[in-house]
Amino acid sequence: MNILRRGRLSEEPDEDITRFTSSMEADRRLFEADIEVDRAHVVMLREQDIINASDCAAILSGLEKIKADGISALDASYEDVHIALEARLIEMVGEDTGGRMHSARSRNDEVAACIRLSLRAELINLMEEMHDLISALISAASNHHDTIMPGYTHTQHAQPTTLAHHLLAHATALVRDIERITGAYAHTNLNPLGAAAFASTGFPIDRKMTTELLGFDSALTNSMDAVSTRDFMIESMSCFSNLMTSLSRMAEELILWSTSEFDLIELDDSYSSTSSIMPQKKNPDIAELMRAKTGTVNGALVSVLTICKALPYSYNRDLQEATPHLWRAADTTRSSVRMARGMVSTMKVKKENMKMSTEKGFMTATELADTIVRTTGIPFRTAHHIVGAVARSGKIPSLSDLDDISMNLINEKLSAKGLTEKDVKEALDPAANIMKRVVTGGPAPKETKRHAAALAKLVGNIADDIRLIRKKVDVASGKLEKACRQ
Ligand code: ARG
Repeated sequence: MNILRRGRLSEEPDEDITRFTSSMEADRRLFEADIEVDRAHVVMLREQDIINASDCAAILSGLEKIKADGISALDASYEDVHIALEARLIEMVGEDTGGRMHSARSRNDEVAACIRLSLRAELINLMEEMHDLISALISAASNHHDTIMPGYTHTQHAQPTTLAHHLLAHATALVRDIERITGAYAHTNLNPLGAAAFASTGFPIDRKMTTELLGFDSALTNSMDAVSTRDFMIESMSCFSNLMTSLSRMAEELILWSTSEFDLIELDDSYSSTSSIMPQKKNPDIAELMRAKTGTVNGALVSVLTICKALPYSYNRDLQEATPHLWRAADTTRSSVRMARGMVSTMKVKKENMKMSTEKGFMTATELADTIVRTTGIPFRTAHHIVGAVARSGKIPSLSDLDDISMNLINEKLSAKGLTEKDVKEALDPAANIMKRVVTGGPAPKETKRHAAALAKLVGNIADDIRLIRKKVDVASGKLEKACRQ
């Protein structure tokens, strides 16, 4: 007989109803966390004299056996892993002992604790993978401080830049993405245990102890809030969406850059597919899927937002429906980060094509206008007018072309106001354009080298932070292990 339903309910649900209700499939993600949560709870019950030492020992060894047997040994006809696990424990050690594990708690605080622990592990792994991606970008940039390439606005040739500058732009965005995840981590690693159904419990529990044993940073204070909220999930998933947006933009560029039209890079064969009919094809399928999976992650976020919207406090079963979206979003995001790293670190850069491409589209027009301003003292808007009129002719101008146009427009020759052939020649040189842009964050090699070094240092600090977080979690798990042995 179902240990949960036998009291209040007499009819058993049929298979169709059970399947509709069950979270067993998605709960695979929670099985190990549930054992940890059970162990910490049981140790605390013992310390507080809510259960006796021999029951505690029997429950803990039962849990160990259940862990070793794995989730497949549980009765899958139960509606979730929590109750299936308790049923198995009772079957193993008897109700007089196993039936005491669920004192002073509810599945509501239990499931919230499990999700938080599992998500915590996902976030730590994700941060490590992001760290590796950012490092790969910085290291790729280190080979390309002098690799001149076109910079685009509106996907039109705009101004020359370097590949290092472009790669570091992505690295910079990803640093913000990782910082946001640190924030989501802080709101995830909080202990809901002790909230029970929502009104806490009259048993003399010690919430601090479960907080410590499970490596949570602190306990959620209001017991109704603790079981009602999934805002930590939404926050993490928003971070995933933001990160996927960064990755999708990178993916889009890798796709564009590998076309015959751009022809700026070639992706490694391992990150390419071919056609079943066109033998010559090398397709950027991995990057395309990364672009598409952003939609999957965004969809998951919107699903959870919609599930949680307008839910009355406290726990509602609706919340169960949110959890699988979290795992789908986390898995998709993590694998995308790994793919991005692989593509960036293995792609072949076509330096010559990049350089040649900067000769097209009069990308030095801005620098020419700026040079005119600096040498002649005319206003920028006027210089913009003159260079724009020259550009209209489709010709890269000489000093005399510029003089002709300026005579027309302002009735003065620029050469008479101080502009020389040498100035024009230098302004029209893409490499010289880049060398001039030494302001903070600009593409001049001197500046991208400085920026890369600063980013590398920052990323080193991030790595230290991640190590500390992992260590804290490991120390707690050692403590729990020890407490279970005593
Ligand atoms: N499987 C449930 C979930 O994921 C566990 C909590 C069930 N609580 C309840 N009151 N029915 O939310």
